[in-house]
Amino acid sequence: MTKASEGQPIWPKYAWLDGSIVEWGSAKVHVFVHGLHYGTGVFEGIRGYYDSGAIKIFRLEDHMKRLFRSAKMIHMEIPYTVEQLIEATRELISVNGFRSDIYIRPIAFRGLGSFGLRARNPVNVAIIAIEFGKYLKPDGIRCMVSSWRKPSGDSFPVETKATANYLLYHLSSLEAAEHGFDEAILLDAEGYVSEGAGENIFIVREGRLITPPVYGSILEGITRDTVTRVAREMLGVEVIERRIRRAELYIADEIFLTGTAAEIVPVIEVDGRTIGTGKPGELTRKIQAIYHQIVVGKVEMFRSWVTEVPIA
Ligand SMILES: Cc1ncc(COP(=O)(O)O)c(C=O)c1O
Repeated sequence: MTKASEGQPIWPKYAWLDGSIVEWGSAKVHVFVHGLHYGTGVFEGIRGYYDSGAIKIFRLEDHMKRLFRSAKMIHMEIPYTVEQLIEATRELISVNGFRSDIYIRPIAFRGLGSFGLRARNPVNVAIIAIEFGKYLKPDGIRCMVSSWRKPSGDSFPVETKATANYLLYHLSSLEAAEHGFDEAILLDAEGYVSEGAGENIFIVREGRLITPPVYGSILEGITRDTVTRVAREMLGVEVIERRIRRAELYIADEIFLTGTAAEIVPVIEVDGRTIGTGKPGELTRKIQAIYHQIVVGKVEMFRSWVTEVPIA
């Protein structure tokens, strides 16, 4: 089964590499960079929405701050500031003149130098922005529990958005596709529900939202935080952070995944069990609708999360 995002993207004119805007075709590094060989890199995934003559970037500063936190966790110093990378992102979007929704990918990785495992090679930084539509089907997806587990935090820094971590999501996502599912759900090392292969997970039981805690081997998702705040502050819905057992997925009233790329995606089936009525749940739909308003700055209380780049 193909994801909505698959297929050949349309490349933009420019990328940003190590301090400069460069032609797309010139945004290159050497094949011997450390990051390519050992996964010594960190990245972010950010969305920009084309609306009213501008690209509206959602929670840009929060994403850039997480990039720096991820880097710190793996002993990497990014040779720029958060503010410089924000400015570079604005410039990149402006010169590309996008007139559609986009995905922004800042990435920092160890570059050329020694190939030793303890090498602290200079860090290259790039920002890529491409046109991007839907990632998963917003009308409901079918999931399987992956045979791949999330390691615990003492085996691997699971909370960092490091390139190395994504081999696990690549494998679990491929496994799900091979079995005819849209997405994989991973359990943690103790067998509790952790997250999707690129999304956090929420279940609904008796009108309350439940999501795995930060110690459940999850990435602390920015969309997860957005949903938590919407539920608590706008809808008056209780959000409980606690471990979720695998079988609880099967009996949930509603399930949805959250992520920058995926946005809010209803899960209508897990391991062959229909979730709720088999259609996106009412609370899921409500949160999904509010989310789409928030990301384009139409909800006053969360307006500061949106950075606008006017397109000439
Ligand atoms: C493993 C994983 N979990 C969760 C998320 C969701 O995070 P966010 O909402 O910050 O995009 C992502 C996507 O970035 C991810 O790759």
